[in-house]
Amino acid sequence: MRFEANPEIKMLVCLGEVGGEEEYRIVEAVKSGRIKKPLVMWVTGTSIKFMPKGIQFGHAGAKADANLETAEAKNSALKNVGVIVPNSFNDFGEIIKKTFNNLVSQGKHHPIPNVDPPPVPMMYSEAKARKLVRKPTSFTCTISDDSGDELVYAGHKISKVISENYSIADVIGLLWFKEKLPSWAGGFIEMVVKLCADHGPCVSGAHNAIVTARAGRDLMSSVAAGILTIGPRFGGAVAGAAVMFKDAFDSKMTPSEFVQSTKKSNIKIQGIGHLIKSLRNPDKRVVLLKDYASKFFPKTPLLNYALEVEKITTSKKDTLILNVDGAIGILCVDMMHGLEWSEDRIRTAIDTGGLNGLFLLGRTIGFIGHFMDQQRHKSGLYRHPMDDILYELPSPK
Ligand code: COA
Repeated sequence: MRFEANPEIKMLVCLGEVGGEEEYRIVEAVKSGRIKKPLVMWVTGTSIKFMPKGIQFGHAGAKADANLETAEAKNSALKNVGVIVPNSFNDFGEIIKKTFNNLVSQGKHHPIPNVDPPPVPMMYSEAKARKLVRKPTSFTCTISDDSGDELVYAGHKISKVISENYSIADVIGLLWFKEKLPSWAGGFIEMVVKLCADHGPCVSGAHNAIVTARAGRDLMSSVAAGILTIGPRFGGAVAGAAVMFKDAFDSKMTPSEFVQSTKKSNIKIQGIGHLIKSLRNPDKRVVLLKDYASKFFPKTPLLNYALEVEKITTSKKDTLILNVDGAIGILCVDMMHGLEWSEDRIRTAIDTGGLNGLFLLGRTIGFIGHFMDQQRHKSGLYRHPMDDILYELPSPK
């Protein structure tokens, strides 16, 4: 009735269905003059007589159980009161159009021009799949890619990494330096990781990891506590040594000029000095590194230079040896020269401090070990003994 009352609506279209008696209310409305507008209507379900009896048609209650409920009965009742009923559903569209056109030609309706619907933009996912769009990226990654079918490390599929039995050093080469290192360089990297894996429980990092584990913290916290001690005095002098020795060597300073210039500026040479190791008590790790390099590296110009520097520093104090950080950092530079990297590439690799990652990676193995060790023997909270602290306070007032 709302459509009948709305003057903007000039004709009505309705689709009924078999079953029920609702359509007879429309018949009554037309008969009584409550619907006056041209009404085009079809009741579907005339084909039900060709179906097995009792079949459901349309909505849940649409079953022509009584004669009056059949589509034919309803269509003819509608037709009898003047509703425009097509001969079949096929004609429904045509008859709607005809009725509409009649209203227009009689001047009873003035069609509103069609409005183009607003275009619906293509879904981003579809446009991306069809390579029609790209968006500016926030990050760039040049070492690994998991966006395809298979994870790739610097151009090497993970299945190849496994089937061809790549070593840990090969994986480090791919992810850190974006190339598979030759075996002499890979052997050096792997040796460094092994040599740095642990240095007993007394050094700063392991001590911190142990104390943290004993305070009841989890693996991540204990390892992080150990890692946080790595710095210029402990394990983190690898990159600094590489930079300092390379700078001195490249600027053609003699070893003694180098030592004097650092002394003058009151700078400690990174990679020189040890708390307990000395000329008389050499660090076996450094001996092993030097032996490996002399056997397998194509050349060791920076190591040779560092050993000359060591001769000068140890003449002052025998603990001022080339330490493990120094040996690693300096040999990394010799390795890069041996690999014939450009000066630019070597600079980028050492200036970023990334070489400290070798110590960090290796020592993390030990930190995890110390955490597990403490867990295994269920050690309780650690409290440092008071008699190990020298209390030097002003006298109480
Ligand atoms: N370069 C030049 N001189 C150094 C030096 C270095 N790396 N390390 C110590 N010295 C000198 C000191 O200036 C001091 O000289 P002085 O007596 O004229 O004042 C003397 O040696 C003793 O210094 P000290 O600080 O007592 O040495 P230490 O044995 O306590 O220090 C380190 C040990 C490792 C902390 C120290 O050598 C250092 O900081 N080295 C550089 C960083 C490094 O390589 N760390 C990694 C260690 S594995």
